[in-house]
Amino acid sequence: MKYRDFGRTGMKVSVLGMGCWQAGMQSWGNDYSTDDIHEAIKTSSQAGVNFFDTAEIYGKGVSERTLATALKDDNIYIATKVAGFNGGNAEKSAKLSYERLGRPIDLYQLHWVPSYYTGIKKAIRSLENCVRSGWVRHIGVSNFPLAELQIAIESTEKEDVVSDQLEFSIADRRLENGLMEFTRKNGVEIIAYSPLGRGMLTGKYRQTGPPKDFARRFYSGKRKYLQTELLDAIHTIAEKHSCSDAEVSLAWVISKGALPIPGAKNRTQAEGNARSSEVSLKKEEIDTIDRLSLGFKEGTYRNIVPRVVPDVLVKSFTSLGI
Ligand SMILES: NC(=O)c1ccc[n+]([C@@H]2O[C@H](COP(=O)([O-])OP(=O)(O)OC[C@H]3O[C@@H](n4cnc5c(N)ncnc54)[C@H](OP(=O)(O)O)[C@@H]3O)[C@@H](O)[C@H]2O)c1
Repeated sequence: MKYRDFGRTGMKVSVLGMGCWQAGMQSWGNDYSTDDIHEAIKTSSQAGVNFFDTAEIYGKGVSERTLATALKDDNIYIATKVAGFNGGNAEKSAKLSYERLGRPIDLYQLHWVPSYYTGIKKAIRSLENCVRSGWVRHIGVSNFPLAELQIAIESTEKEDVVSDQLEFSIADRRLENGLMEFTRKNGVEIIAYSPLGRGMLTGKYRQTGPPKDFARRFYSGKRKYLQTELLDAIHTIAEKHSCSDAEVSLAWVISKGALPIPGAKNRTQAEGNARSSEVSLKKEEIDTIDRLSLGFKEGTYRNIVPRVVPDVLVKSFTSLGI
């Protein structure tokens, strides 16, 4: 495993982390068990992955609890998130996450931009209070487009916004239109979620096409860009490196300076993903993938929840009850 600095935090993180949405045992199907998830998490840690991402909303705390149990003796970093609708009172959520995790939170992220009724400034102040309480070491945001990230940075009093967790993969390159450059200039790390395009970039649908229910996972408007030529190119590069398509897709994200956090549902997926740390893509291979995925670069990053909708309504829509 290779390691690198995580901004100015002093944290030495593995070049890829692991996402634990799947550990919430919701939204990801029934083809895996809690035991599989335990194995996946433990396998990642044994392979040297030391950065694990979760959230209070993943299975309403189930993911955080599972992570704590699986890795209780391991020397790792845990990043979790407070839901946008709880951003105005992050202290309450942080205390609950801290209790579920049984340890301080290394990185506490605001899951999405809160509504205008809460406001970014109030939410950032609330996150800073969590550091003062000792539950949290560093603060970050998630799903923050450029303008909102700028407001978040300007709203801090005592802490730095150290990271923005954003969707970034060969199949979603919108942040390359300004946001990535802004993060570099401001010393903000990019944590790349859905780096495997939710499974689409692993090669398993290369010949058959995606299953019918895939719209749930993959923004269907962009599916037209996921052409055979691109998937075949990823596969050819993988063959040259004697690795899997998934490893190439993750190595591409790493080559762009972001920290991918692929989700895994079992030991085999976790093992494969961890190996991507050893794949060094050549410049011409990166250029080929860049050229064939240009369609995914269209547009800029947008808020995932419209800010005019009051937080209480978002909370009831999602029926998360936390
Ligand atoms: N901040 C946010 O708003 C946000 C949003 C989304 C995700 N996230 C975080 O980012 C993490 C990763 O994103 P994601 O889970 O959406 O998408 P992803 O990492 O792109 O895809 C994960 C899925 O791909 C499949 N897979 C994983 N490794 C594989 C391998 N080696 N070979 C074949 N298939 C493989 C598995 O699903 P199947 O086996 O079912 O195909 C797995 O559940 C999450 O766990 C979460 O921590 C954050």
